[in-house]
Amino acid sequence: MQQLPLLLPGRFVAWGALLAFPMSSPMPSLPPPMEPQILRLLVTMVFHDTTRSADTQGTALLGDVPTHAMDCGTCPIRFHQPWACQGLSPKQWGDLEKAIHLYLVLITRTVVTVVQGTVMNFPFVIQILMGCEVLPNGTSYSFYQSTRDRHSLVRFNLDTGEWVAAPGDEMAQQVCRSFSQDQGTSSRLRFLLQKTCVAEILNFVYYGKETLKRQERPVAVVFARQPPIALELPQLLICRVTGFYPRPIRVTWLRDGEEVTPGPGLNSSGLLPNADLTYQLRIVLAVDPGAGHSYACHVEHSSLGHQGLIVYWGPGGHWAVGLAVGIAISLLAAAVLAAVLWWMRHRSTWSEQRNSMGL
Ligand SMILES: *[C@@H]1O[C@H](CO)[C@@H](O)[C@H](O)[C@H]1NC(C)=O
Ligand SMILES: *[C@@H]1O[C@H](CO)[C@@H](O)[C@H](O)[C@H]1NC(C)=O
Repeated sequence: MQQLPLLLPGRFVAWGALLAFPMSSPMPSLPPPMEPQILRLLVTMVFHDTTRSADTQGTALLGDVPTHAMDCGTCPIRFHQPWACQGLSPKQWGDLEKAIHLYLVLITRTVVTVVQGTVMNFPFVIQILMGCEVLPNGTSYSFYQSTRDRHSLVRFNLDTGEWVAAPGDEMAQQVCRSFSQDQGTSSRLRFLLQKTCVAEILNFVYYGKETLKRQERPVAVVFARQPPIALELPQLLICRVTGFYPRPIRVTWLRDGEEVTPGPGLNSSGLLPNADLTYQLRIVLAVDPGAGHSYACHVEHSSLGHQGLIVYWGPGGHWAVGLAVGIAISLLAAAVLAAVLWWMRHRSTWSEQRNSMGL
């Protein structure tokens, strides 16, 4: 088994700079968050062959907010939020960037070396999910797991510092053995995920509070749709709620003021993301329009008051309006038809008169 040369001077200096961060006691003035906060670092590496380095991309998300990213394995860190770079000096971000670049080079080399000794076929994709969570009582935990083509590869137990291979996977065993032999990198990775990551969360929560605490009010509309096949029943009532943030929301249908309990007639789209970091949701209810019930969609969200938002639908509401509009359109059409018929009859009478006058 070939051991990778790990103590290249450049590599050592960058990690050394990282370890010299005042991170083990991150800004004593920064309190733990009011709610659990999770920072996820997602790395995707596409390996094409042994000659090229992997196509690598990395993204960091605090909860559902993208904070920073790397477009390639040697690219600079790009910030998605103006506040994401605060809390560390440009020099500290630079050192962190270097450390990450070197770590990615190390992974790439390890994987390529391992693959050369196995029957693995190119291309394949390695994904790494790592990060940490900080709880309101100040406790934190960190995680690191990886997959190859969506199958579990290796996991890093941050409590014990042990690498764990997915059972029965030859490549996983070899990668695991290679990482395990490199105690230096393992302990730096532990520092990165247990200290630097936690410090980043505290900084983000402090400097980004306006983004993280923002409240966007939902907009709700109610409309009806006939199911494509059924000729008579049921009609589908749809309540579409969009543009809200944060995520937690409760949307229910009320029949005659009573909440409709979950059942076969009730369906939800689930929470879907919008492009502007808000969310949307649709709740569909199958109803019998002839039964004379009244319906309303009830939305409860932190941006709304205690009552929430109620959008009504019912026999006294849109159906009556729809009927009135329908009747008005029919009357108008009848009037236009009558006018056209009258004009045609009189035109023929006029031409008969003109003919009989010999014009
Ligand atoms: C912090 O909270 C978590 C979850 O609520 C709990 O499991 C843990 O024991 C707590 N830690 C301390 C030190 O209180
Ligand atoms: C609920 O929605 C799913 C997905 O849109 C659909 O497949 C299913 O038929 C729906 N069920 C009902 C009762 O409308």
